[in-house]
Amino acid sequence: MSKLNNLVSGGAGAIDPVSVAEYVQTGGFDALKKAAAMTGEAIIAEVKKAKLLGRGGAAYPAGNKWEHLLHIPETPKYIVCNADEGEPGTFKDRLIMDKLPLKLIEGIVIAGFTFRAQAGYIYVRGEYRKIQKRLLAAIENARSAGFLGGNILGTGFDFDIHVISGAGAYVCGENSALLNSTEGKVGRPRIKPPHLAEVGLFLKPTLVNNVESLASIPAIIGMGGDEFLNIGHPDSGGTKLICLSGHVQNRGVFEIPLGKVTLRDIIFDSDLGGGIAGGKKLKFFHLGGQSGPIGGPDLLDTVYSYTDLKKAGLSVGSGVVVVMDETVSVIEYLQCVSEFFVHESCGKCIPCREGNRQLLKLLRRLSVPNAAGCGDLETLRRLIRTMSDASFCGLGQTAAAALNSAWKHFKAEIEAHIRNDHEPV
Ligand SMILES: Cc1cc2nc3c(=O)[nH]c(=O)nc-3n(C[C@H](O)[C@H](O)[C@H](O)COP(=O)(O)O)c2cc1C
Ligand code: SF4
Repeated sequence: MSKLNNLVSGGAGAIDPVSVAEYVQTGGFDALKKAAAMTGEAIIAEVKKAKLLGRGGAAYPAGNKWEHLLHIPETPKYIVCNADEGEPGTFKDRLIMDKLPLKLIEGIVIAGFTFRAQAGYIYVRGEYRKIQKRLLAAIENARSAGFLGGNILGTGFDFDIHVISGAGAYVCGENSALLNSTEGKVGRPRIKPPHLAEVGLFLKPTLVNNVESLASIPAIIGMGGDEFLNIGHPDSGGTKLICLSGHVQNRGVFEIPLGKVTLRDIIFDSDLGGGIAGGKKLKFFHLGGQSGPIGGPDLLDTVYSYTDLKKAGLSVGSGVVVVMDETVSVIEYLQCVSEFFVHESCGKCIPCREGNRQLLKLLRRLSVPNAAGCGDLETLRRLIRTMSDASFCGLGQTAAAALNSAWKHFKAEIEAHIRNDHEPV
């Protein structure tokens, strides 16, 4: 039996992405028509039943976020779609925007309708130039067909979507930095609270959701929250688009039902990764992005669900699965991760700005046999704790997650580089 699913990605590549007529022929905009006859409360009840966890990385329950915003009386409200997709190894939102932009638009309009929002914004990664053009074409066509703009479907609801281009900063994927950047300010995170549902875009109540989260909304409204839940795991309904890269035979975006597939299936099943390329052995996999944890072959039988991965010390994150074979040095890999965070730290707070630099310095020393001593390991540990406890935003708080987890799985390999000048700490 195939371990794949096409709940969200169905139709990708089979229809002209910007043709409203072809999208409608495949059932497109049926969910919007259904939602137009529902109250905001009824729509949110379905999203809650579906147990949709945010697909951008933080796995926050979408239903709770939507309910919170619904109960805020202040208007206008805004819908913001996070299409920054800056996490290295993540390329699944690109698939949706490239091949199924009308599905994303449908999800955003349903969200807009739920809150009677003023407007929607899609904040797109700066490097996705062609995709920005595709979104604009799809928006134009949806507007001409009456699914966007004034008096949508004769309901009296006016709503339009704007496309905003990012400029290549990873931190602008953090939702409050993204709002600052959308407003034309420097893309640095805001202090929270206040929650963005209360003080968001232009200081007004705002919903921020990831592309995949919003593209899942038509399926939830179309089939109902209960059926969506059944497709996935009892704690988190539906499917997940995963991005397989590294030393697997088959790389790309794959859609799998949550809770029904193991990491072994993902890496070795012929419908998915197809095994390690060149007949080599698996050394480790890195899940959820640069800010996610690393796991070894002993965790291959872990089920791919938010709950099971968390229990195993792993995470779904944005859906990244980077696979590394036996030839890769863990320390060299961690240095690459660390270089990324040094480059992307926005510099606003000291634990992240200086912590990441010190972390990289120590990792470089560790990569030279016998250059680092036991004292360096202790410094490394204190640094990791300070960064995760005291950094201002998620970037600094999770920058050492890979190192922390690699330490558990590859302790011997890391310790082999250390000069034995003290009692081990
Ligand atoms: C440094 C950093 C970068 C992030 N980058 C992204 C991103 O590129 N795309 C995304 O959807 N979420 C990203 N997030 C998570 C967002 O802050 C936020 O949780 C998400 O947009 C909420 O949508 P969701 O609940 O639908 O996942 C990032 C978070 C941090 C701390
Ligand atoms: S944790 Fe890093 S990215 Fe976040 S505010 Fe501090 S310096 Fe900027």
